[in-house]
Amino acid sequence: MKKVVGTCLIALAFWQSSLAQSSKMDKFIDQLMAKMTVEEKIGQLNLVTGGEATTGTTVSTDVESKIQRGQIGGIFSMSTPSKIRQTQEIAVKQSRLKIPIIFGMDVIHGYRTVFPIPLGLAATWDMDLIQQSARIAAEEATADGINWAFSPMVDISRDPRWGRISEGAGEDTYLSSKVAEAIVHGFQGNNLAAYNTMMACVKHFALYGAAEGGRDYNSTDMSLHRMYNEYLPPYKAALDAGAGSIMTSFNDINGVPASANKWLMTDVLRKQWGFKGLVVTDYTAVNELMAHGLGDLQQVSALSLQAGVDMDMVGEGFLTTLKKSLDEGKVKLDDINRACRFVLEAKYKLGLFEDPYRYCNEQRAQSIIGSPAHHEKAREIAAKSFVLLKNENQALPLKKSGTVAVIGPLANSGPNMPGTWSVSAELDKTASLVEGMKSVLGNKVNILTHLGSNLLADSTYQKHATMFGRTIARDPRKEEDIIAEAVKTAQQADIVIAALGESSEMSGESSSRSELDIPKNQQDLLKALLATGKPVVLVLFTGRPLTLTWEDAHVPAILNVWFGGSETGKAVADVLFGDIVPSGKITATFPRNVGQIPIYYAHKNTGRPYGNSGDFEKFKSNYLDVSNTPLYPFGYGLSYTTFTYSDIRLDRNTLDSNSSIQASIDISNTGDYDAEETVQLYIQDLVGSVTRPVKELKGFQKIFLKKGEQKTVKFEIQIKDLKFYDNNLNYLAEPGDFKIYIGTNSRDVKEKEFKLL
Ligand code: NOJ
Repeated sequence: MKKVVGTCLIALAFWQSSLAQSSKMDKFIDQLMAKMTVEEKIGQLNLVTGGEATTGTTVSTDVESKIQRGQIGGIFSMSTPSKIRQTQEIAVKQSRLKIPIIFGMDVIHGYRTVFPIPLGLAATWDMDLIQQSARIAAEEATADGINWAFSPMVDISRDPRWGRISEGAGEDTYLSSKVAEAIVHGFQGNNLAAYNTMMACVKHFALYGAAEGGRDYNSTDMSLHRMYNEYLPPYKAALDAGAGSIMTSFNDINGVPASANKWLMTDVLRKQWGFKGLVVTDYTAVNELMAHGLGDLQQVSALSLQAGVDMDMVGEGFLTTLKKSLDEGKVKLDDINRACRFVLEAKYKLGLFEDPYRYCNEQRAQSIIGSPAHHEKAREIAAKSFVLLKNENQALPLKKSGTVAVIGPLANSGPNMPGTWSVSAELDKTASLVEGMKSVLGNKVNILTHLGSNLLADSTYQKHATMFGRTIARDPRKEEDIIAEAVKTAQQADIVIAALGESSEMSGESSSRSELDIPKNQQDLLKALLATGKPVVLVLFTGRPLTLTWEDAHVPAILNVWFGGSETGKAVADVLFGDIVPSGKITATFPRNVGQIPIYYAHKNTGRPYGNSGDFEKFKSNYLDVSNTPLYPFGYGLSYTTFTYSDIRLDRNTLDSNSSIQASIDISNTGDYDAEETVQLYIQDLVGSVTRPVKELKGFQKIFLKKGEQKTVKFEIQIKDLKFYDNNLNYLAEPGDFKIYIGTNSRDVKEKEFKLL
């Protein structure tokens, strides 16, 4: 009782102090806005780029003079304490009202120290580690002057053709929501005004990952039922975790582009969800409303502001047209005031009015950015993100002796290791796979490599412009000659590691693909290496699920390492040679071929479900030429050890609104290695007023088991876990029969039934 009273008093005190805080903030902003001209208010809505990483064809100009005139509210893609201090000084010394600037950056999977791409981070299923990665990124970025991270990207994607699937947590609503929360907490901590925390920006609102055909920037069209149940929850989870801002997406949604979508930005975001933070567009998204067909720049800027957008990234439609629209009665001063207030509030919450240089600390930057401790953490997280897709006859781990040949385009390319969106990575200092492996293994293993095979990268992709200039050079020699030389190197080794896959810029923004194979010339190399008869391990680099049907059938071991960040090489050595047992599990389904897409585990049953035979069944929902099953299902990933699962035990088999069911299962480590396992809980609603997915992830636990050890894992199931939006968007749980599944992935599960009364 005492404890409850104590907790209530603390909560009350906290509530009172945040009320006091916000009334102090309101007063401050009221006073400031009373001094502002309309032009100065509009100036706050302008976000320009500092040009360090450019993700569009338009770039910002005359930045300095615009700051002096009060025409810039924020700058992104600028770094270092000295540069940011200098720029901030222009704002606080030379502009009339001395309003500080907010500094943003794409801090997506690390800052200078880079962690695995987000799809790899999600594959750790370790929310604590993911939070730590965001914390370290925030420590580094804030020391470098930055206070606003354009992350987390929480767009659900079920289409690996879309290159940006690499930037999110994959296909699942529940897991993506958990990852979103972890990242927001990592960036923002408990106090946004602290010198080492930064504001998160949830993106891309909304449904960007559902682009038709997986083609970037393409339209989305989706039922409200699917939107509310499957695609919107991660955005909401990130905002509920306290994210201070949100970015609009490029796409149109059921006919209205997100950046001018009043229903989305005002009705859903502000009214239904009660969001009180800053809404910013994506890069020139306001201007792009013209190409969407919504009018000229003045019209689209007005539409966007009225829809609920506060800040305009790069395009300057707000800056150049809103005053005119106001004078002509086409927008209201209230809308401009609202937008300006949200921008100023963000700056206030970050403590910028108190100390505009709070985030510029040369000394801190020098001592912590890229510190050995951060790199150690990057190495640990990278190793935990790797997914062992195949390991026939325990081909892995390798012995630390003999000669190993590391061959392929990704073997010797340091700049490709960090992966897409590592815009602040120290590329010239990033070790290649071979360098990283050598530094871990020293003289124990003789490592050979073949530089020529590097030249087999992206033959079909190379000719295209890249965002960050990280292609792998090619030379005019004939492919056969390069392969023949690589084979000679392989013949001198006991084991061959084929470092193949995508180069880092084959995924990420503007990198959609219609085929998802390993590029053809690399397949040729792989076949030639296999033909030597040497044991071959495929170390696969990728930013998305690839179609690996041939590789799965022919290569004895496949370790998917995504793009592991700054410490990829060392982490790969840790896992290949058994110092770390792989535990990553994929969070996006790997299809057998592109025709299966969209393919995801939480699909509907249909009226003509297909059985488990794997063969074509007439008059069932399947294909003539490929089974419905994926190559690797969601949640899948092998270990060097083996785990066995007991049957599920339920403490009761009925549930009502006041009770919960406890499901228990015993997991045993039956192999030869101590290892981690992610135990996954799925639920199926068997009867409903609308069709329900065949399985939905509702919980997971990561456990560590020594060899021979057994642990009991318990999940608590409550009515909240059974709720969904019906077709009238009522959020409810419907009485009836349910199934619980617990297993090592979404396919290999034990099951049990229960009833909701
Ligand atoms: C465009 C991307 O879509 C977005 O994710 C990113 O934050 C901005 N460019 C800024 O670089």
